Amino acid sequence: MAGQPSWMDGHSVRVMEYAVAIGRALGLSENSIETLRLAGLLHDIGKVDTCASVLEKQGSLTSGEFELVKLHPVHGAEILCQSETLFRVARVIRHHHERFDGSGYPDGLKGEGIPFLARVLYVADAFDSMTADRPYRKAPGKDYAISELIRCAGTQFDPRVVLEFLKIAGGFPCGNEYPGDCMASLPPNLLFKKPV
Ligand SMILES: [Fe+2]
Repeated sequence: MAGQPSWMDGHSVRVMEYAVAIGRALGLSENSIETLRLAGLLHDIGKVDTCASVLEKQGSLTSGEFELVKLHPVHGAEILCQSETLFRVARVIRHHHERFDGSGYPDGLKGEGIPFLARVLYVADAFDSMTADRPYRKAPGKDYAISELIRCAGTQFDPRVVLEFLKIAGGFPCGNEYPGDCMASLPPNLLFKKPV
Protein backbone atom coordinates (compact mmCIF):
# COMPACT_ATOMS: atom_id res chain seq x y z
CA MET A 1 0.00 0.00 0.00
CA ALA A 2 1.49 3.31 -1.01
CA GLY A 3 0.12 5.40 1.90
CA GLN A 4 -0.80 9.04 1.68
CA PRO A 5 1.87 11.76 1.57
CA SER A 6 2.05 13.72 4.86
CA TRP A 7 0.93 17.03 3.27
CA MET A 8 -2.46 15.43 2.72
CA ASP A 9 -3.10 15.41 6.50
CA GLY A 10 -3.12 19.24 6.60
CA HIS A 11 -5.25 19.36 3.46
CA SER A 12 -7.85 17.04 4.96
CA VAL A 13 -8.12 19.04 8.18
CA ARG A 14 -8.54 22.34 6.31
CA VAL A 15 -11.13 20.84 3.95
CA MET A 16 -13.01 19.60 7.01
CA GLU A 17 -12.91 23.08 8.57
CA TYR A 18 -14.08 24.83 5.38
CA ALA A 19 -16.85 22.29 4.81
CA VAL A 20 -18.10 22.60 8.39
CA ALA A 21 -18.00 26.42 8.17
CA ILE A 22 -20.07 26.37 4.97
CA GLY A 23 -22.48 23.90 6.54
CA ARG A 24 -22.93 26.12 9.58
CA ALA A 25 -23.44 29.21 7.39
CA LEU A 26 -26.13 27.29 5.52
CA GLY A 27 -27.81 26.38 8.81
CA LEU A 28 -27.49 22.62 8.28
CA SER A 29 -28.44 20.20 11.05
CA GLU A 30 -25.85 18.92 13.54
CA ASN A 31 -26.20 15.51 11.92
CA SER A 32 -25.22 16.97 8.54
CA ILE A 33 -22.38 18.95 10.11
CA GLU A 34 -21.01 15.76 11.63
CA THR A 35 -21.24 14.03 8.25
CA LEU A 36 -19.35 16.94 6.68
CA ARG A 37 -16.72 16.78 9.41
CA LEU A 38 -16.02 13.11 8.79
CA ALA A 39 -16.29 13.37 5.00
CA GLY A 40 -13.86 16.32 4.99
CA LEU A 41 -11.33 14.46 7.06
CA LEU A 42 -11.63 11.24 5.07
CA HIS A 43 -12.47 12.47 1.56
CA ASP A 44 -9.18 11.39 0.01
CA ILE A 45 -8.78 8.11 1.90
CA GLY A 46 -9.27 6.32 -1.42
CA LYS A 47 -5.89 7.71 -2.53
CA VAL A 48 -4.20 5.33 -0.13
CA ASP A 49 -3.64 2.99 -3.07
CA THR A 50 -2.45 5.70 -5.47
CA CYS A 51 1.31 5.99 -5.99
CA ALA A 52 2.95 9.06 -4.44
CA SER A 53 4.74 9.56 -7.76
CA VAL A 54 1.34 10.24 -9.34
CA LEU A 55 -0.08 12.27 -6.44
CA GLU A 56 3.02 14.48 -6.30
CA LYS A 57 3.79 14.69 -9.99
CA GLN A 58 4.81 18.12 -11.23
CA GLY A 59 3.00 19.12 -14.39
CA SER A 60 0.11 17.44 -16.12
CA LEU A 61 -0.92 13.86 -15.52
CA THR A 62 -1.12 11.48 -18.45
CA SER A 63 -4.62 10.26 -19.24
CA GLY A 64 -3.76 6.90 -17.66
CA GLU A 65 -2.55 8.58 -14.47
CA PHE A 66 -5.66 10.76 -14.34
CA GLU A 67 -7.85 7.67 -14.71
CA LEU A 68 -6.08 6.22 -11.66
CA VAL A 69 -6.64 9.38 -9.61
CA LYS A 70 -10.30 9.43 -10.65
CA LEU A 71 -10.83 6.11 -8.86
CA HIS A 72 -10.22 7.57 -5.39
CA PRO A 73 -13.82 8.66 -4.62
CA VAL A 74 -15.04 5.14 -5.42
CA HIS A 75 -12.27 3.46 -3.44
CA GLY A 76 -12.85 5.78 -0.48
CA ALA A 77 -16.57 5.08 -0.47
CA GLU A 78 -15.96 1.33 -0.71
CA ILE A 79 -13.74 1.45 2.37
CA LEU A 80 -16.26 3.42 4.43
CA CYS A 81 -19.55 1.90 3.30
CA GLN A 82 -18.62 -1.32 5.07
CA SER A 83 -19.60 0.50 8.25
CA GLU A 84 -23.32 1.13 8.71
CA THR A 85 -22.51 4.26 10.72
CA LEU A 86 -20.34 5.71 7.96
CA PHE A 87 -22.64 4.88 5.07
CA ARG A 88 -23.82 8.50 4.66
CA VAL A 89 -20.23 9.72 4.82
CA ALA A 90 -19.31 7.18 2.14
CA ARG A 91 -22.01 8.58 -0.17
CA VAL A 92 -20.68 12.13 0.21
CA ILE A 93 -17.13 10.96 -0.49
CA ARG A 94 -18.16 8.99 -3.57
CA HIS A 95 -19.66 12.13 -5.12
CA HIS A 96 -17.22 14.88 -4.06
CA HIS A 97 -15.91 15.28 -7.64
CA GLU A 98 -19.28 15.42 -9.39
CA ARG A 99 -19.62 18.70 -11.29
CA PHE A 100 -22.83 20.72 -11.18
CA ASP A 101 -23.13 20.52 -14.98
CA GLY A 102 -22.88 16.71 -14.96
CA SER A 103 -19.36 16.42 -16.40
CA GLY A 104 -17.69 15.23 -13.19
CA TYR A 105 -16.87 11.78 -11.88
CA PRO A 106 -17.41 8.96 -10.97
CA ASP A 107 -21.12 8.90 -11.92
CA GLY A 108 -21.70 12.08 -13.93
CA LEU A 109 -24.48 13.19 -11.56
CA LYS A 110 -25.87 16.64 -12.27
CA GLY A 111 -27.25 19.61 -10.29
CA GLU A 112 -29.70 18.70 -7.56
CA GLY A 113 -29.02 15.03 -8.32
CA ILE A 114 -25.65 15.35 -6.57
CA PRO A 115 -25.92 14.84 -2.79
CA PHE A 116 -25.91 18.36 -1.33
CA LEU A 117 -23.15 17.65 1.20
CA ALA A 118 -20.93 16.42 -1.65
CA ARG A 119 -21.45 19.78 -3.39
CA VAL A 120 -20.36 21.53 -0.19
CA LEU A 121 -17.31 19.30 0.12
CA TYR A 122 -16.30 19.93 -3.50
CA VAL A 123 -16.10 23.71 -2.95
CA ALA A 124 -14.13 23.25 0.29
CA ASP A 125 -11.73 20.83 -1.40
CA ALA A 126 -11.20 23.03 -4.45
CA PHE A 127 -10.54 26.14 -2.35
CA ASP A 128 -7.85 24.42 -0.31
CA SER A 129 -6.28 22.88 -3.41
CA MET A 130 -5.90 26.38 -4.88
CA THR A 131 -4.67 28.11 -1.70
CA ALA A 132 -2.31 25.69 0.04
CA ASP A 133 1.23 25.10 -1.21
CA ARG A 134 2.31 21.53 -1.74
CA PRO A 135 5.87 20.20 -1.66
CA TYR A 136 5.80 19.90 -5.44
CA ARG A 137 4.07 23.17 -6.40
CA LYS A 138 3.15 26.65 -5.20
CA ALA A 139 -0.56 27.41 -4.80
CA PRO A 140 -2.05 30.09 -7.06
CA GLY A 141 -3.52 31.84 -3.97
CA LYS A 142 -6.74 33.12 -2.44
CA ASP A 143 -7.59 35.81 -5.01
CA TYR A 144 -7.23 33.31 -7.83
CA ALA A 145 -9.22 30.69 -5.91
CA ILE A 146 -12.12 33.06 -5.31
CA SER A 147 -12.18 34.18 -8.94
CA GLU A 148 -12.21 30.54 -10.04
CA LEU A 149 -15.05 29.64 -7.67
CA ILE A 150 -17.06 32.54 -9.08
CA ARG A 151 -16.17 31.72 -12.68
CA CYS A 152 -17.11 28.07 -12.26
CA ALA A 153 -20.30 28.60 -10.21
CA GLY A 154 -23.11 26.90 -12.09
CA THR A 155 -20.82 24.72 -14.20
CA GLN A 156 -18.37 23.05 -11.82
CA PHE A 157 -19.83 24.15 -8.49
CA ASP A 158 -23.28 24.67 -6.97
CA PRO A 159 -23.74 28.49 -7.08
CA ARG A 160 -25.59 28.49 -3.75
CA VAL A 161 -22.61 26.83 -2.05
CA VAL A 162 -20.14 29.21 -3.72
CA LEU A 163 -22.15 32.22 -2.62
CA GLU A 164 -22.22 30.99 0.96
CA PHE A 165 -18.50 30.29 0.88
CA LEU A 166 -17.66 33.75 -0.48
CA LYS A 167 -19.42 35.30 2.47
CA ILE A 168 -17.43 33.39 5.05
CA ALA A 169 -14.18 33.66 3.06
CA GLY A 170 -14.42 37.46 3.11
CA GLY A 171 -14.57 37.45 -0.67
CA PHE A 172 -18.03 38.89 -0.90
CA PRO A 173 -17.82 42.36 -2.52
CA CYS A 174 -19.63 44.10 0.36
CA GLY A 175 -18.15 42.13 3.24
CA ASN A 176 -20.14 39.57 5.18
CA GLU A 177 -23.57 41.08 4.77
CA TYR A 178 -25.97 40.29 1.97
CA PRO A 179 -27.57 43.66 1.24
CA GLY A 180 -29.74 44.09 -1.82
CA ASP A 181 -27.42 46.66 -3.40
CA CYS A 182 -24.71 44.04 -3.51
CA MET A 183 -26.65 41.99 -6.03
CA ALA A 184 -25.67 44.28 -8.87
CA SER A 185 -21.97 43.60 -8.39
CA LEU A 186 -22.35 39.82 -8.50
CA PRO A 187 -21.79 37.95 -11.75
CA PRO A 188 -24.91 36.38 -13.32
CA ASN A 189 -23.91 32.84 -12.48
CA LEU A 190 -24.14 33.70 -8.79
CA LEU A 191 -27.58 35.16 -9.15
CA PHE A 192 -28.83 31.67 -9.94
CA LYS A 193 -30.33 31.40 -6.48
CA LYS A 194 -30.72 33.78 -3.58
CA PRO A 195 -29.23 32.48 -0.36
CA VAL A 196 -31.74 31.16 2.14
FE1 LIG B 1 -10.79 14.09 -4.01
